[in-house]
Order: sequence, then C-alpha cells, then structure tokens
Amino acid sequence: MRLFVAIDIPDTVREALARLMGELRPLCSGARWVRIEGAHLTLKFLGETPADRARGIDAALHRAQASGPIDLLFSGLGFFPDPRHPRVLWAGVSTNPNLQALAASVAAQLVPLGIARETREFSPHITLARFESPKGLDALRAAVEHAGAAEFGRSSVREFHLFQSVLKRGGAEYTRLATYPVSGEPDV
Ligand code: 2AM
Repeated sequence: MRLFVAIDIPDTVREALARLMGELRPLCSGARWVRIEGAHLTLKFLGETPADRARGIDAALHRAQASGPIDLLFSGLGFFPDPRHPRVLWAGVSTNPNLQALAASVAAQLVPLGIARETREFSPHITLARFESPKGLDALRAAVEHAGAAEFGRSSVREFHLFQSVLKRGGAEYTRLATYPVSGEPDV
C-alpha cells in the first residue's frame, strides 16, 4: 500500500483554494489540478509499504509529537523546483518551528522501521497542480505573480493522519487510515 502522513486543511481554506484554482485552471491546459477534497499538507511520504508494516507504523506515529501548538497561515503561491521549469504549483504555508518539529519527529519515529529520512529539507506546501506540458505556463506564471501573497486562511493543527494513496486514471485518491494528536495527549 502507498502511504503518506499529512495534515488536513480546513474547509474554509479548501474553498479559498478551490476559488483560486477555478480562476487559474482556464489559463494553463498543461496543468493537472488536484482534487481539492484531497488537498493536504504532507509531513512524510512513505511510498509503497507492505501491509504487514501497518501496525508498526501506527505505533511509531502514536509516538511522534510536536514541541508545542502549531498554527498555520496559508498564503502565497509558487512553483517547484522553479517557475521556468515547474513540476508543481503550490500554495504556501507559514508557521512556527513546531510544524518542523512534528515533521522531524514523524521522520525520526519511522527510521527504526527502515523508512529513510528525506534528503531534502521539509518545505511545507499544498500541491495545487502538477504539470504535464508547458502549455499556458506564461499566463499562469503571470497570474501567480499577480496573486502575490494572497491569503487563503489559517488553522490550528490538533491532529495529523496516515493516508493511503490509490493511483487512479483521474488522479490519486486518498483515504484516511488513522489519526494522531499532535500534542501527545490522548486523542478524545
Ligand atoms: P505533495 O503533493 O505535498 O508534494 C501523496 O502522494 C503525497 O505524498 C503527495 O501529495 C506528495 O506531496 C507526497 N510525496 C512526497 N514525495 C513523493 C514521491 N516521491 N512520490 C509521490 N508523492 C510524494
């Protein structure tokens, strides 16, 4: 099973991003837009994982903790790896170091299970689109510049989740498998 660990975003942010995507979509036919219901902030991508590892992963994620409250501000747009040759259009996430600490804790708890740490630094973002061709990129780049530091909302993170990703013809479908508290307090 293909697994990843992520934070969900509030419906208000989802709605703001959906409005923006509705404006941007006609500009760029080379972009494959995500399903907004599935949009998330990835903490750790585990990739293809044998189903019999699920119990160990679940126990490890129960041990992962942030060092304090996590507040997120969803704002700004950008391209990975860069605007000239983009693979991804993202919405930005500003936060305090506690998010970084949670991502690091998740990664650290999974290392003993043989799940390697990322070599890249954790860079919090919400993926909005992936690119299949450069068709319409100029217009999209101009719109992204114009949008500047547009704000899409805020959230206080109380929990994170283990998701399964099933790759389908129309894009990946995500199912929430389990939920964990960020504080280390019992999940009520
Ligand atoms: P991103 O979209 O936030 O960049 C589920 O596939 C999630 O895992 C994706 O949304 C993606 O996060 C993240 N991910 C990280 N590395 C990945 C990889 N090598 N292949 C696919 N997804 C990856």
